[in-house]
Amino acid sequence: SSDLSLQPHPSFSGRPGPLLVVVADGVGVAPPGTSNAITEASTPTLDSLYATELYTELAAHGPAVGLPTDDDMGNSEVGHNALGAGRIFAQGAKLVNKAITTGAIFESDVWAEAIEHGRNGTLHLIGLHSDGGVHSSLEHLYALLRRAADEGVMSCAVHILHDGRDVAARSALTYIERTEAVLAEINAAGPNRNYRIASGGGRMTITMDRYEANWKMVENGYMCHAHGEGPAFASAADAVETMYAESDAGDQYLGRFVVDRGAGPVGMIHDGDAVVFFNFRGDRAIEISRAFEEPDFDVFDRTSASGDPAPDVFFAGMLQYDGDAFIPKKFLVAPPEIDRTMGQFLCAEGVKSFAISETQKFGHVTYFWNGNKSGYIDEHLETYIEIPSDNVEFDTTPAMKVREITDETIDLLRSGEYRFGRLNFPSGDMVGHTGHLHATVEAMEIIDECMARLVEVIDELDGVLVFTADHGNADIMFTVDKDGVRHPKTSHTLSPVPFAIHDPNYDGEYHMIEAAAGSDHGLANVASTVFNLLGYEAPSDYNPSLVQF
Ligand code: 3PG
Ligand code: CO
Repeated sequence: SSDLSLQPHPSFSGRPGPLLVVVADGVGVAPPGTSNAITEASTPTLDSLYATELYTELAAHGPAVGLPTDDDMGNSEVGHNALGAGRIFAQGAKLVNKAITTGAIFESDVWAEAIEHGRNGTLHLIGLHSDGGVHSSLEHLYALLRRAADEGVMSCAVHILHDGRDVAARSALTYIERTEAVLAEINAAGPNRNYRIASGGGRMTITMDRYEANWKMVENGYMCHAHGEGPAFASAADAVETMYAESDAGDQYLGRFVVDRGAGPVGMIHDGDAVVFFNFRGDRAIEISRAFEEPDFDVFDRTSASGDPAPDVFFAGMLQYDGDAFIPKKFLVAPPEIDRTMGQFLCAEGVKSFAISETQKFGHVTYFWNGNKSGYIDEHLETYIEIPSDNVEFDTTPAMKVREITDETIDLLRSGEYRFGRLNFPSGDMVGHTGHLHATVEAMEIIDECMARLVEVIDELDGVLVFTADHGNADIMFTVDKDGVRHPKTSHTLSPVPFAIHDPNYDGEYHMIEAAAGSDHGLANVASTVFNLLGYEAPSDYNPSLVQF
C-alpha cells in the first residue's frame, strides 16, 4: 500500500525531547580478546549502555539484511537500507544471482546492445575483483565473460580493481590467478578470441570513490582504463608482485597499472566499444558511471595526455545505482525497489528530522537510509548535514570527524527544531578497514567520549537515544593462522550488532523483547522500534518492534 499515515501508539506517546539514533559504523559484538578493538578500548559509556535491560543484539549479516547466505557479511548499504526501510529486501548480490540463474540478465535489451557493440569492437568489463560479496562477485564477472564468448564477442578486456578491504588484505594474486584461468579457458575454446586483463589498480586509489570525496581517484581510474595511462607491466600479476616488493601496502592501496607486452596497452577503450561496470552496489559506482556515460561530463577533462578525446562508448551498469538521478541510464538488473521508508512516513506525518555524518558516511544516513534515493524527501522538514572528510588513510586520523559530528548534533538537538535525528560515526569502520588495531582502539575511545556527551544532552532534553551499528568490523581486527601468525583483518565481520535504548524517563512502560536463542531479530526491526519510541504504531507491514508495551 502507498498509505503513509501513522497511527498514534495506544499506550505510549513518546518523550518530551528528541529521539536520536546513533549508528556506530562497523561496531559489532564479538567475544573480548586482543583482536577486538572495542573490548580493548576503554569505553565506560558504551559499557553502561550495554549493561541495562534495554539492550539486545541484532543480526546484521546474511538473510537478515537481504544477502544470499549466512556466509555473507553485512555492509553499510544493506545495513542502512534495513534500518531506514524496516523490512528486508533482496539485495543486489541476490538479485544478480537470480537473474543469472534464470537467464533473465541475458535476455535484456541492454545485454543485447552490449554484445552488439562488443562484436564490432571490444567489450570492457570493469569492477571490484574479489569474492567479498559487498560490491561485486567474481561469479558474476565469469558468467558475463562466458556468455559474451558464447554470443560471439571476440575481444574482451577486463579492468580489475584490487580489493583487500572486503577480503584478506593481500589476496589480489589469488583472484588474478582465477580470472586468468577463466580467460585462458575461453581463449582456448574458440579461434581468434582475445580475452585479457587490460588495466587496474587498488580500489582506494582509483575508480571507486564515493560521495564525491575524491574525484581525482575516478580521474586516475578513467585515464588508466580508457586511455591506458599508468605504469606498464607484462601482466596483472607482474604489477601486483612488483608493487608488493616495493612497499607493504595492502591491495586496496596499490597503484594503478596497465598491461602492455611491448606493443602498447592491450585494452584501451575506443569509440563504439561497450563498457559494463559489473559492481552491483551503488555508492562507489556512481562517479565512474557518470564519467563514462555523461556526454557533457565536466568534473574532469577526459582527454588523454596525448590528446585523445573521451571514447564514445555504450555504457551499462550491473544495476542502476541511483534511482532518483537515473545513474546509469542502462543497466542489466533492476535494483531492489525499496519503498515506504521511515523517512517517507515521518515526512508525511510532518515530523522534522535531521541526518548527519562526514563525507565518507554521509550518503549512508541519507541515500542508503532512504532506500538508495538521493536528496531530500521533503527539504522543509529535513536537514542533512555533511561534514567534509579528510582525504587521508584513516589510521593516521582515528578521530576522523567524530567530535565535529557530535558538536553539530548537539546544536541540532538543542535547537528544539527536530523530533528525530540520526547520525553515523564512521571511525569504527573506516579505521577498522585499515587493519590497524591501535588506531581502531583509539577511534573507539573517541566514540565513547562523544557518546558520553550525547547521553548528557539527551538527559537534559528528556529525549531518547538509540545506539546501534550497521555491521561488524572493529570487533575482529586480526586472525591468527595455524602457525600462530597474525593477519590483519580489514573486512567486516559476521558479528551481531548492539542495540541499546537510553531513555532517562524510563519507568518500565515497555521492555525489550526476549532475545531468544536463534531469534532472527535484525536491523530491519529497528524502524518499528523507533516509531514506537516516537509514540506511533509501526506500519503493519514493517518487521516487528523490538520493544513491547
Ligand atoms: C567500502 O565500500 O568501504 C567497503 O567495501 C564496505 O564498507 P561499508 O559497507 O562499511 O561502506
Ligand atoms: Co565498511
